[in-house]
Order: sequence, then structure tokens, then C-alpha cells
Amino acid sequence: MAETPLLLTPLALGPVTLPNRIVSSGHDTVMVDAGRVGDQLVAYHEARARGGAGMIVVQVGAVHPSARYTSHVLLADDDACIPGYARLAQAVRPHGTVLVGQLFHPGREVAESSDGAAPVALAPSAVPTERFRVMPRALRTREIDEIVAAYGAAAARLIAAGLDGVEVVASHGYLPAQFLNPHANVRTDAYGDGPAGRQRFLAQVLAAARAGAGPGAVVGLRLSLGEDDPGGLPEEDALAAARAIADAGLVDYLSVTTGTSATRRGAGHIVPDMTFPNAYLASAAGRLRAAVPVPVLVAGRINQPQEAERVLAAGQADACVMTRALICDPEMPRKVREGRGEEIRACVACNQACIGHFHAGYPISCIQHPETGRERRFGRLVPASPARRILVVGAGPAGLKAAAIAAARGHRVRVLEAASAPGGQVRLAGRLPGRDEFAGVIDNLLREARRAGAALETGQRVDAEVVEREGADAVIVATGARPYRPDLELRGDARVLSAWDVVESPDRVPAGAWAVIDTRGDWVGMGVARLLAAHGHRVSLATTGYAPGETLPQYVRDQQMVGLVRAQVRVVPLVRAFGADEDTLYLQHVLTDEPVLLEGLAGVVLAAGHEPVSDLLDDLLARGVPAVGIGDCLAPRSVEEAVLDGLVAGSEI
Ligand SMILES: Cc1cc2nc3c(=O)[nH]c(=O)nc-3n(C[C@H](O)[C@H](O)[C@H](O)COP(=O)(O)O)c2cc1C
Ligand code: SF4
Repeated sequence: MAETPLLLTPLALGPVTLPNRIVSSGHDTVMVDAGRVGDQLVAYHEARARGGAGMIVVQVGAVHPSARYTSHVLLADDDACIPGYARLAQAVRPHGTVLVGQLFHPGREVAESSDGAAPVALAPSAVPTERFRVMPRALRTREIDEIVAAYGAAAARLIAAGLDGVEVVASHGYLPAQFLNPHANVRTDAYGDGPAGRQRFLAQVLAAARAGAGPGAVVGLRLSLGEDDPGGLPEEDALAAARAIADAGLVDYLSVTTGTSATRRGAGHIVPDMTFPNAYLASAAGRLRAAVPVPVLVAGRINQPQEAERVLAAGQADACVMTRALICDPEMPRKVREGRGEEIRACVACNQACIGHFHAGYPISCIQHPETGRERRFGRLVPASPARRILVVGAGPAGLKAAAIAAARGHRVRVLEAASAPGGQVRLAGRLPGRDEFAGVIDNLLREARRAGAALETGQRVDAEVVEREGADAVIVATGARPYRPDLELRGDARVLSAWDVVESPDRVPAGAWAVIDTRGDWVGMGVARLLAAHGHRVSLATTGYAPGETLPQYVRDQQMVGLVRAQVRVVPLVRAFGADEDTLYLQHVLTDEPVLLEGLAGVVLAAGHEPVSDLLDDLLARGVPAVGIGDCLAPRSVEEAVLDGLVAGSEI
């Protein structure tokens, strides 16, 4: 593809050569089978190799029994891991993709245990970590020796399994980064006490990994160039360590990221959401690249090939990590190569089904591409037999996905949408502060449906008579939802708006103080509160939870919270609304039932979720018309479930 000549150029990393500069960096998929590589993980990575990724770095592999940071970590600490890694290598390497495995020890960053009892966390020093509230024990020298040796043994296992190399994880505040960090490492022995002492552990680990991996293998290092945390690893210390390591010939490449697991703000960088600019770490990577003799890879919201090409052309990196770009569109590299760049489904950094699933303990997926994580069921489209005429009612995410899949299988698909534009609630959701990229979901789905041959007409209200007139062979109903209005006691001139009223016309909200009633704990309550504040209103956010956004993926919630705090929105936790009059909202504490009053208000806004619009579906089923309901018209949920419903319906019809 003419616009991305550099991205498609091979790159030598020590003894191996990547066919292009698109890298899937290590990411925990929550797909391991009892600590081992299983069928689903193999299918997941094979899909990305088939799609043309230049290099795949397999998720963190625990090198030692003390290296368990979740209950589902992949294990690399005994020989029983070899057959699983070998299956991965056999699946990935025939596609020409270089395959590397991460070597990992979390140190004090222990998020959970295998059975609910907190394990003993080990770290350079007994300095607690803020986010997981873990107080570790300082490692004894003998234990350090054992863990260093464990990195070497794990490296040997991965190479024996047929991988091309290993990558030591010293990023995000994990064990090697804790040794480098003067705030976390207060040792006075040979492993602390000055920069050289703090670098000793990492240097020994890399030497052990190199020795274990042997001469033909690539050895890389993942490093946070600064952790954006007052108690974290400073950028100058990270740079100095990277230079020392690279100058000593201990690594074949450096993979740059930022942030730390140790604090909420630092952790937001591990998987930056859509509030971070694209390629926001490129200049830091460029500083490192100018200072070291080995290739530099950079991560951080590089979601499109043009973005990656700009980074490469500016000389800021030698290759680009495009991890979520590949979670969202495994075929992306192939599309670039074949000049089909306009077909790429760009990741919108919503963090919902990738890292959001990780935090909830579920296997990875993507809201836009629910085939991800379900490769064995939906990996290949089954041609329609016979091809039929399908009517889809509603062009929100569910209807568009169903149309795209059914049409791609060969059905003749017509989509009728009542509104003047497709998109349903997604278009509105994209108008919430810090959420504008979200509307890209509809642009992507619309393109997919059109390219597959589905015909779309807007402004078409459909009832059962219209359906019968259309005479389609099958009907998919995706009529969505409308705002839910809870039963409130309203007196006098109580002014009540829905969240979508505010989003549609924020300028028309009367001046004064407003209270948002948030029963969902999702994006809408927080977003509407911020939108009102941005339009000059004093805002209170009354939520049934301990804090707003309780149902959101952590890194998204934290970014939204930054906006809420800066906008000086007052949060009233643990309350439900039961009534309002012209200037007061009457709330009730959810635990004590005691009244809580918010006075002096101009009005209240309901962020109380939705109810299904299922009239058409009910009517068709009552008439015996074979119709399938999908998305919010079945039960209001999120875009993730809508698109998945669309995939299932489009695949099965
Ligand atoms: C679900 C998920 C799990 C992750 N787990 C890891 C991991 O095991 N090791 C690691 O170094 N980074 C991990 N990351 C961070 C990614 O490697 C990458 O740095 C991040 O997604 C930012 O790159 P991107 O903007 O291209 O997605 C994870 C990311 C995601 C989405
Ligand atoms: S779920 Fe959202 S952030 Fe994750 S890969 Fe898909 S589009 Fe990107």
C-alpha cells in the first residue's frame, strides 16, 4: 500500500526478521486452560498470524511459583508448559509471524489469588503498592538468585517449544521495574543503593534469559519510560537503565510503554482509553531510539496504519505495537498489504471487551468484532445455503452487524431504519465528554454492511403490515430501546429531563443547579453530569453505588472520574430517587432508607437506563411471522451485546 511503505518493510531484531513492523504486544487474554495454552488461545493467535501480524508477543508467562498475579496467569515455570507453547508455535509460525513469549514476575503487584487467600508478595523492599493495597516482603538474596535462574529456565522452555524468542517484562511497575525504582527499592545491599545496584537485578535477569534462550533466539525488554506516578520509576532512571542494558548487548530490542500497575493514574496507561491521543508515546520512544543501539518498538493508541507510518517516518520507532488494532481487526496487516486500508475496522479504545473483560475475569473479545475470542465458533463465514431475502428492522449496532454478516454470507439483505440516520444510541453516546471516538463503531459497522452488499434505507418506520408487504424470507428485528422513566413522585413544576434530552440539546437546558439521577453506574450518568458542568451548570450526581461508574471498565471509569473531579461535580453516593418538586430532589439512602434532600435545583436529569422497544417483535410473533429479535429490543444492554446478538443472528439465519 503506497501510503505505508515503511510499515510493510521487514525489520531485523537480532537473529530474527519480522516480515513487517506491525506488532501484537503481550496481552493477557484470560484464555488459559488451568495455566496452560489451550485450543482457544491457539485459535486466537493463529487468526492474527493469518491476518499478517509481523510479530506476536504471547502474554505474560509466570517464571516462578511466586509470580502469580491473577488466578488465571499463564505458567512458564515448569516443563509442563512446553507442549502448549509448542502448539502455539506450530499454529503461528507457518504464517511467517515471529513469535515471542513474555517472561514475567509481578513482584508486589498481586491483584488476586487462586483461592481467595492472599499470597505472600515478594518485592525488592517492604514498600506497599497503592492500587492493590499489597504490602510485600523484601526478597532475600538467595530468593533473588532463585528468581533470576527461573527467568533463564523459563526462557529455555519457550525456545524448546519452538518460539523465536523471549521478552522480559520490566514495564508497568512489575518486579524488574520495582528494582529499578528508587521509591520501591530502598535496599542497601548490592541490589539497591544507587543506579548501578538498582539495575543489577534486571541485568542478571536478561543475562539469564539470553543464556537460557540460546544464540538463535531474540531477547527483548519491555520497559515503561516513566510511570506517571509520584512514587514510580522516573523517566531518566528508565532511560539510563535502557541505555546501560542495550550498550551491554543484553537485548535485541526495547519495547516502550509507560505507566505502572501501582497506582490508578499510572495504570490508566497500561491500556490507554480514547481520552489519550493516538501514538502519544511516540516522542518518548524517539528520545530512547536516539540513545540506544537497538531497535525500539512503541505502543500506545496506534490504531491505524497511517498513524503507525507517521511514527516510523518521524524516526520515533522501528516498529509499532498495534495490539488493540489487531484485537479489533485481526486482518488489518493483510488489508494494508492488499491496498484495502479503507476496510480496516479501527479500534476506538473503548476498553470494554478487551481489558474490560480481563478486569472482570472473562476471556478477551472486542465490542466491534465479537468474533475475537470466539474464533473457533465464528472464525470462518459459512456461505448461506440457500441465499434468501432478509429484512433487518433497525440500523443500530445490532441490526448493522446482523446485516453485514448475513450479506457477507450471501443473503440479500435490506435494512430499514426509522430515524433519519443509522446508529441508534451510539451516535448519542459519542457526544458524551471524552467519548467522541465511540461513534466510530457505527462508521465501521455501516461500512461493513454496505461493503457486504446490504441495502440501507433511513426514515422508514416499519410495522407488521410493512413487513408483510416486504415479503422477505426472514426478519431480524433490532428496534432498540427508549429511555426508561422510573416511577417518581413529581409535585408542582418539577422539571425532569432524560439524559438523551441533555445530550441532544445541551444548550437548551435552563440555567441553574441540576441533579443527575444515575441508577446504572455507567458512562451516561458521569457523562451527562460533565456535559452539564461544561455548559456552566452546578451539578450533583446522585448514584445508587459507592461511586459513579461502578460498572465501567476500570481504566475508563478512572479517566471519566478525572473529568468529573475537574468539573467539580458533587457526588452523592448510595442514594435512590423517589420524588422531586420544582426545586428539590428527594432521595433515600439505599442502606438506611433515611431521606437525603438536594435543594435549590433547576431540575433533574434521569440517567436511568432504557426499556426495550419490542412492539414490532411482539406483533410479528403474535401473527406467526418468523422473526428474530436482537439487541436492546430483547433487553437493553450495551453495544457489546448488541453486536454479538447481530453476529449470532447473521451467522445462523
Ligand atoms: C486485555 C489486555 C491485556 C494486557 N495484558 C498485558 C500483558 O500481559 N503484558 C503486557 O506487557 N501488556 C499487556 N497489555 C498492554 C498491551 O500490551 C499494550 O501495551 C496496550 O494494549 C497498548 O497498546 P495498544 O494501544 O496498541 O492496544 C494488555 C492489554 C490488553 C488490552
Ligand atoms: S473492545 Fe474497544 S478498545 Fe477493545 S479492541 Fe475492541 S474497540 Fe478496541
